[in-house]
Amino acid sequence: MEKVYIESYGCQMNFADSEVVGAILTGAGHSIVTDIDEASFILINTCAIRDNAEQRVRHRVRELRAMQGRRHALRIGILGCMAERLQNRLMAEEDNLSLVCGPDAYRRLPQLIEQVRCGKQAAEVELSTTETYADIEPVRLGSNGISAFISIMRGCQNYCSYCVVPYTRGRERSRDPLTIVAEARSLFDQGYHEVTLLGQNVNSYKWTDDTGFPELMDMVAAINPQLRVRFATSHPKDLSDKLLEVMASHPNICRCIHLPVQSGSNRMLQLMNRKYTVEWYLDRVDAIRRYMPDCSITTDVIAGFSSETLEDHQATLDLFRRVRYDYAYMFKYSEREGTYASRHLPDDIADDEKTRRLNEIIALQGEIALENNKSEIGKEYEVLVEGESHRSKEQLFGRNSQNKVIVFDRRDAQPGTYCKVKVRNCTAATLLGELV
Ligand code: SAH
Ligand code: SF4
Ligand code: F3S
Repeated sequence: MEKVYIESYGCQMNFADSEVVGAILTGAGHSIVTDIDEASFILINTCAIRDNAEQRVRHRVRELRAMQGRRHALRIGILGCMAERLQNRLMAEEDNLSLVCGPDAYRRLPQLIEQVRCGKQAAEVELSTTETYADIEPVRLGSNGISAFISIMRGCQNYCSYCVVPYTRGRERSRDPLTIVAEARSLFDQGYHEVTLLGQNVNSYKWTDDTGFPELMDMVAAINPQLRVRFATSHPKDLSDKLLEVMASHPNICRCIHLPVQSGSNRMLQLMNRKYTVEWYLDRVDAIRRYMPDCSITTDVIAGFSSETLEDHQATLDLFRRVRYDYAYMFKYSEREGTYASRHLPDDIADDEKTRRLNEIIALQGEIALENNKSEIGKEYEVLVEGESHRSKEQLFGRNSQNKVIVFDRRDAQPGTYCKVKVRNCTAATLLGELV
């Protein structure tokens, strides 16, 4: 049987999928190895969201060619969003690849590997309207035994005009809530203290008319008050008061909402097909702060989308000043083949101008994050300790409910437990504290 090494790129959903792949392969008798030098098969779970994400994988595939030169039996396969987007083209372009498998076809991986062993190339990229891998208990790869992901829905059909995900992940579908609750309970019984429920639009989760995302959150949070529950990513259009009510009523649902805004200009939001306005978005931010004044808010933003003017860009900066995000993922627009924007909206902002706008957003966000963190000094938080700090063995790090990383002197604290920590100092990225 094969010794499979899985390498993952892209969003948390890809990392969660790799754990499903791990379960499917071990179920078929293969083993998962964590040392690439032991591998007979390398599977790369890929992302297609921006061109640079794809270039990184292309570069890696070429790098691995050298390893194949030394180890002739070594096979390489591509999973995930690039597999879905490029299909057979990928194997034609990178001739050291043996296998291509899209995100809804992972159950077929054992057969595909068999085909490769018979000397053939293997590809399966069929998307599904029903596959959720609900019955598969993921093999936790690279886990700290404290925090785990649970995929609760797949796909996206929002068709934001710039985005490739609807084409790589297929139709939106939700997973049976009983299997989600069972997986979370089993994780808690194994000693995990935190689960993150995942989906491209996690808050559009819908199983039946009576079971939407708020009801699901209520069920998962009720498993045990010692189990922290997080979720990502929520779409502003579906952020309901009902969800905020449920969050506010469970202290173990973490006070952190990732709410991608993409742009602060209504004209851009409309061109992006985001289905909300700046006013709607700010109303949702106000609602979050009304229900949970201590909730952190994070976002995604795109600089230099088609026809973005300096006024549009200013509007994004103004929105950042207004919301004062705790963290932001900031990107330059990257045109993706096949999307509405690639067909109808010219990619007409010069690359160096995109970079300039992006850097302006990054600089502003850096200032805001530092100011936000400074205002944390003196506060006490319950921290779930995750492990040793990267800087020093004498220090531990963990996160508070707001998802901020706090580093502190270890004394008698242990990873995998909750500790009370008082914030003493900070950088823009990290809080520095001491045990109380
Ligand atoms: N489903 C989530 C985000 C998915 S992708 C949502 O709708 O919010 C993660 C982020 O990548 C997006 O929020 C967006 O900011 C960014 N992104 C997506 N397509 C992009 C593109 N073509 N160019 C640059 N950034 C992009
Ligand atoms: Fe892409 Fe929009 Fe779907 Fe998010 S909601 S995955 S940005 S199409
Ligand atoms: Fe990338 Fe696919 Fe996730 S394109 S962001 S890995 S859904």
